[in-house]
Amino acid sequence: EATARMADYIGAVDQGTTSTRFMVFDHGGNEVARHQLEHEQILPRSGWVEHNPVEIWERTVAAITTTLHRSRLAPSDLAAVGITNQRETTVVWNRRTGRPYHNAIVWQDTRTDRIAQALERDGRGEVIRERAGLPPAAYFSAGKVQWLLENVPGLREDAERGDAVFGTTDTWVLWNLTGGVHGGVHVTDVTNASRTMLMDLRTLDWDEELLSFFGIPRAMLPTIRPSSWAEGYGGLDERGPLGGAVPVTAILGDQQAATVGQVCFSPGEAKNTYGTGNFLLLNTGTEPVASRSGLLTTVAYRFGEEPAVYALEGSIAVTGSAVQWLRDQLGIISGAAQSEALARQVPDNGGIYFVPAFSGLFAPYWRADARGAIVGLARYNTNAHLARATLEAICYQSRDVVEAMEADSGVALDVLRVDGGVTANDLCMQIQADVLGVPVSRPVVAETTALGAAYAAGLAVGFWRSTDELRANWNEDRRWEPAWSAERREEAYAGWKKAVRRTLDWVD
Ligand code: G3P
Repeated sequence: EATARMADYIGAVDQGTTSTRFMVFDHGGNEVARHQLEHEQILPRSGWVEHNPVEIWERTVAAITTTLHRSRLAPSDLAAVGITNQRETTVVWNRRTGRPYHNAIVWQDTRTDRIAQALERDGRGEVIRERAGLPPAAYFSAGKVQWLLENVPGLREDAERGDAVFGTTDTWVLWNLTGGVHGGVHVTDVTNASRTMLMDLRTLDWDEELLSFFGIPRAMLPTIRPSSWAEGYGGLDERGPLGGAVPVTAILGDQQAATVGQVCFSPGEAKNTYGTGNFLLLNTGTEPVASRSGLLTTVAYRFGEEPAVYALEGSIAVTGSAVQWLRDQLGIISGAAQSEALARQVPDNGGIYFVPAFSGLFAPYWRADARGAIVGLARYNTNAHLARATLEAICYQSRDVVEAMEADSGVALDVLRVDGGVTANDLCMQIQADVLGVPVSRPVVAETTALGAAYAAGLAVGFWRSTDELRANWNEDRRWEPAWSAERREEAYAGWKKAVRRTLDWVD
């Protein structure tokens, strides 16, 4: 028989906040190959964070090329490729020259806090909440685009002419993969678009009134497609790292991809990803649910022409990056793994709490102006207590968003599904179970972000037939049971809440 055999693998580009990786998975969802490259974190002022988009594209090419070369795979071994990305981070470039007008403004960047606050003063904030599902905040893309339009000379004219275009990093990577100045496609997906403050959650299209709030010309914006797209988002450039024949059939923001990778396909299923920040997403089904507790309403995924599936999200700006801060800025550990060893030297936090509000506080507080604090210090305290307080801060912040989620949904969590780099930290996961009072469960494949992008890409081309087939790939690797008494748990958490109040008092 002459039917062509489908290739054996699916690839995924994961363009994250600190690095870009390319991963290859087999039909069982097992990792076959990967390569990962960091890019520079550009910190021009307190609260500002930028990336160089050209460096990100170069790292993407190198990650793909090196993965394929080292594993002796050819692009033809890939049935499809998915793209997943750090969300909200804003790139504006010229489609004729291919050159960015400015460094990318990263999701953590707080320079647009004044733009966000102004929206709250005259009722526009309510419209954004209602239509886009987001509280006006510096976190999301629209204010970043507005800032660029106001601060880069000549940009507004180029934007109105249709030469200057906006994209999150999925859009930037795809535009380059599809030929860049030689006909690159300008496309994003519903999940990324739902993080801009510019998309109507119900129509899944850009909204003219929202665009007018920020003075953004519609010509700048990419076309919004589903997160999984059988025909592919556009033909790849033959000269690119994947050659011309591989279809790109999925795009999802990284947290939504992790939700797919954790097979949270039913309402009520949730996952918590521990990266530079933490992001807890709860599947709420095919209707958007508004939060009363400081969570975001966001699109979880949309597969082809099926209805979009929505989620409530608790976003935390600083978790893993607080551990990096211990390494890079304080120099008290040499690597993430050492944070565990150091924290294990003490049985508790020695009375100190660390609120790592470096980029303000996200959910459920939404205070871009907040800054970090370490409270309760005594001469007795050591680096070990600080390391322990850092791990605890990751877990308390997660409890803050779990509480908000339970308040909004009325459903109590019975187990927390976790993934991401910090889940390798056994002590931190034990503290998480202790602080929440529910078990914490980690799957065998903890790289659920790239896996989710691969799943969405593979579903589009029939590499996987159904979400049930994906569910069968999910296996628990490890589970942590809560060990603290209810009394210790509530006392410790009350201390955290008090520390957060002090942090906010400082800037009030
Ligand atoms: O919303 C920001 C989020 O998408 C960043 O994720 O894993 O790149 O830190 P990560």
